[in-house]
Amino acid sequence: MSNMIILGIETSCDDTAISLIKTSASALKKKQPVFNDFEILSDCVSSQASIHSPYGGVFPAIAKREHQKNITPLLIKALKNSGLLKKNKKGIDAKKLLKVQKILERNQDIFNALKEFFKEYDVPEINRIAVTMGPGLEPCLYTGINFARALSLYWDIPLSSVNHLEGHLLANWLSPIEKVEFPATALVISGGNTQIINIESIGKYKLIGETRDDASGECFDKTARILGLGYPGGPIVAREAKKFKEKKFNISLPRPMKYDKNYDFSFSGLKTAVLYDFKKRTEKERKSEDYIIEMCYEIERAVIDVLVFKTMKASEELRAKTILLGGGVSANKELIKEFKKQCKIKKIAFSAPLLKFSGDNASMIALTALFSPNAKITSWQKLKPNSNLKING
Ligand code: KG4
Repeated sequence: MSNMIILGIETSCDDTAISLIKTSASALKKKQPVFNDFEILSDCVSSQASIHSPYGGVFPAIAKREHQKNITPLLIKALKNSGLLKKNKKGIDAKKLLKVQKILERNQDIFNALKEFFKEYDVPEINRIAVTMGPGLEPCLYTGINFARALSLYWDIPLSSVNHLEGHLLANWLSPIEKVEFPATALVISGGNTQIINIESIGKYKLIGETRDDASGECFDKTARILGLGYPGGPIVAREAKKFKEKKFNISLPRPMKYDKNYDFSFSGLKTAVLYDFKKRTEKERKSEDYIIEMCYEIERAVIDVLVFKTMKASEELRAKTILLGGGVSANKELIKEFKKQCKIKKIAFSAPLLKFSGDNASMIALTALFSPNAKITSWQKLKPNSNLKING
């Protein structure tokens, strides 16, 4: 086989995502992906942010419902964009459809949509399906996994499972970066995770620190909620922080666990400190633009301060040649600025995913399935989610 096309599926949280990546067999022999060796045929994301916004966070049952509604239309869109959608001339395979029905017995909406899809469209020319196995919200993971299992069975195409966190790391290779020098230290920061990981090579990881309570993204989301700013909190807090000019309220927030002799984090204390400050203010102060701006600036500074300090310390201990970021919070411009500054001083390389690939997407899942030795082929009969999946390996 000279060319290989892989379909990526991601539903671990509140984004439904489908991607198709084309590469060559020779590209897969390389130790790390090379940007010009593969082509993203299609990268589709259906975000649920506006649906979860009134709740200030992701509601798992609603997220699952939305994934169920969106996933088949998104697959059709991704196949169409890639030129892989072909009309079916053969009719439906009733025996296989019965098995698909069994897989999707708790996802009736998907079954109905897929039945129509199989009737109308032929098996696309793809070689593999890759799906996120975890970590994430279990009902959401189940939706993507059962969808992938159904496609694998009906199309008779092999299935790979991917660790979502490894996907966030591999997202760095979805842009034209230089060859990454290892060992590297990675910081994965999202709505559900904050982890420092040492990387020996692609596929060889050691988790050396993680949050003991809230994730950094969750801290942005929860503090934005306290301030009545909406969801997701990270981009809103960053937008307000940018307007900061001078201190008027003397807000001072803690830097939890910054100087502890480990690489763990804790962000729930920071959230509580925001709540206490907010509560002690008058109604007028809370609503004032200057207060919101100063508070957002302080939240952003506190989170960045702890993340950068501990990651740099870890990278020194490992004598890392590169620092890699991944996850939704790595979209934060001030964070990137600070990392670039520190990496320049310490003379180490730095990489963060393109903005488009910092949050959840399926291209990172497809790329990981192609290039990581951890993404092994599994049978559709066996695949189950693991909502607490770790990255050690
Ligand atoms: O990786 P992601 O899209 O989803 C998962 O949690 O898996 O990350 C979402 C998180 C949210 O908590 C959001 O507030 C945060 O990333 N985020 C940001 C920024 N953009 C998104 N945090 C800080 N600054 C940003 N610019």
